[in-house]
Amino acid sequence: MVMQSLYIKSVTWEAPHILSYELRPLESVELPPFTAGAHIDLVLPNGLTRSYSLVNSQNERHRYVVSVQKDRASRGGSQWIHENLRSGDVVTVDGPRNHFALDETAEKTIFIAAGIGITPIMSMIDRMKVLKRDWELIYCARTREGAAFRESLEKEPRARFNFDGEPGGRLIDIAALVRDAPSNAHLYCCGPTPVLAAFQEATEGLPQERVHLEYFAAQEPPATEGGFTVMLAKSGRKLTVLPGKTILETLRESGFDVPYSCGQGVCGTCDTTVLEGVPDHRDLILTTKERASNNRMMICCSGSKTDSLVLDL
Ligand code: FES
Repeated sequence: MVMQSLYIKSVTWEAPHILSYELRPLESVELPPFTAGAHIDLVLPNGLTRSYSLVNSQNERHRYVVSVQKDRASRGGSQWIHENLRSGDVVTVDGPRNHFALDETAEKTIFIAAGIGITPIMSMIDRMKVLKRDWELIYCARTREGAAFRESLEKEPRARFNFDGEPGGRLIDIAALVRDAPSNAHLYCCGPTPVLAAFQEATEGLPQERVHLEYFAAQEPPATEGGFTVMLAKSGRKLTVLPGKTILETLRESGFDVPYSCGQGVCGTCDTTVLEGVPDHRDLILTTKERASNNRMMICCSGSKTDSLVLDL
């Protein structure tokens, strides 16, 4: 875990309810590197941690740029950021991490972005251009005005737009997009849950190494069945996870300061090494192969299939 204090160099309006924050180091040092599709966690003074994709080029080592959409159903993250963070403020940043990495060897890359899901795609497009790769973007939003980065993307001949809330607009047909994609294309999708669900359904029959998506929210409830014990190998403690509680909640209520952010299995901040036992995986980060290896788990949402788990904590 890389924690650092960065200051906000500038705040930029991108679209209604979407602001970009440029973060720079306090000293003139290089920031830890990242790869396109990565995110950082903002550790907020109100006790919340929130993950945001980096929208700038991975070649830049002097700054991180994130774009934050004020969520109408904000649980205190995006709303707090919009209302409180200003130029000159110092924030704690954890990361970067990447669970949505580009396959840079692909002969053809198709990005499908919906709404604020454009954010990780911005750094990916930059990378594609640096590598001179064959790519295209389909960017969906309710309206032109609501589409962040629209003006710069409209200059890209490889970008197409779909504004379904405009007069005559229609929802994008993701199944048709996937059906028409060349057989060597890698497909990336980021956006709200219904778009991702449609994408997942449309890509079910494709080789999964060609399919890449990033969720912003959980698809199923966390495992709170409880009724198992968690052995903490480093501290030697043994805790019982009671019905109604997650492992993360049990740990925090027992005084363990375990890092977490989304609490929904989508950011990877609580990724924990499993030494023994079989987790009941409920996250959206681990691949099928990684799940089957049973040596990692997201403790914010995943439970246990065995009577006990031994964690490397
Ligand atoms: Fe985000 Fe667990 S806190 S995956």
